[in-house]
Amino acid sequence: MTKSITLRRPDDWHLHLRDGAMLQGILPETSRDFARAIIMPNLVPPVVTGADAQAYRDRILAALPEGDQFEPLMTLYLTEGTDPEDLAAAAASGLIKAVKLYPAGATTNSHGGVRDFDKVRGVLEKMAEIGLPLCMHGEVVDHDVDIFDREAVFIDKVLEPIRRATPGLPVVMEHITTKNGVDYVRSAEKDLAATITTHHLVINRNHILVGGIKPHYYCLPVAKREEHRLALREAATSGDARFFLGTDSAPHIDALKEHACGCAGCFTATNTMSILAHVFEEDGALDRLENFTSLNGPAYYRLPVNDGTLTLVKGEEPVVYPAKIETGAGPVTVFDPGYPLYWRVA
Ligand code: NCD
Ligand code: ZN
Repeated sequence: MTKSITLRRPDDWHLHLRDGAMLQGILPETSRDFARAIIMPNLVPPVVTGADAQAYRDRILAALPEGDQFEPLMTLYLTEGTDPEDLAAAAASGLIKAVKLYPAGATTNSHGGVRDFDKVRGVLEKMAEIGLPLCMHGEVVDHDVDIFDREAVFIDKVLEPIRRATPGLPVVMEHITTKNGVDYVRSAEKDLAATITTHHLVINRNHILVGGIKPHYYCLPVAKREEHRLALREAATSGDARFFLGTDSAPHIDALKEHACGCAGCFTATNTMSILAHVFEEDGALDRLENFTSLNGPAYYRLPVNDGTLTLVKGEEPVVYPAKIETGAGPVTVFDPGYPLYWRVA
């Protein structure tokens, strides 16, 4: 028997599109299923000013396959030198929808990020005043903090003090990977939400390390213990408006993933909707998939939900996705959930 489900067209609230040949190669993987995405600004050099964001937006739109309707929602990369007025002007014009905070050294292309949080105080106050969301990469980078504890320590040492000092600042904890993150979001009365990736609903740290190291499962924040994955599953499938999809689909060419010092990032754009349908069905929550992919995000960002719809159909035979996307920059391996997928986008 064929099963199907129709949703409002989904959005991706955390996406890496890169630039140049990589952008050209991977953008169709997102624009096929998604209407909008919050575009991460960690290019080299990063997207720091309103002018940078405008130019990057133009490059994304120029790379869009003919006929695809896709709106890039731009962000600025917060630095200790960010000008609050430039940022406010970019927000007022509608060009940017959020600002991204990378603690310096936390992840790919984060060296230009923030070291001293006092130096961005003025910018954060401006953002609170105009209601512009801060997307936070929530990991401390101290060498004496275990990599598996970096998110939990960030909540106590950085996030809570910033939120207390800046009332009204809308914060999105990005790609949460722990029960601590889920609990913290639930403890907040307002202004706080979190994105959850596709891959963190599927893998725990064993998938990366047991039976040989699997570089394509390595991303940041790194996947944690099973109890944390289960907490993320519960949050994502609960329908709670504070949790929504941010795939963090982050392409790196295979040569840089399968490397002595492999890059962090899972590329999930291609099969995300199939995987999510599988996950939500497994948890008896197919009726709440739309909340996670299409309703909760726009509500948080105060944007209308999409007009279009997307239908997922469950077939008898597994859907075959390409193992790799061939781009002009090189091949990019598509995330393998480790089980066959029967849901496909109609
Ligand atoms: C991202 C990337 O490659 O840009 N990598 C990742 O593992 N998620 C950066 C990030 O979001 O941390
Ligand atoms: Zn990311």
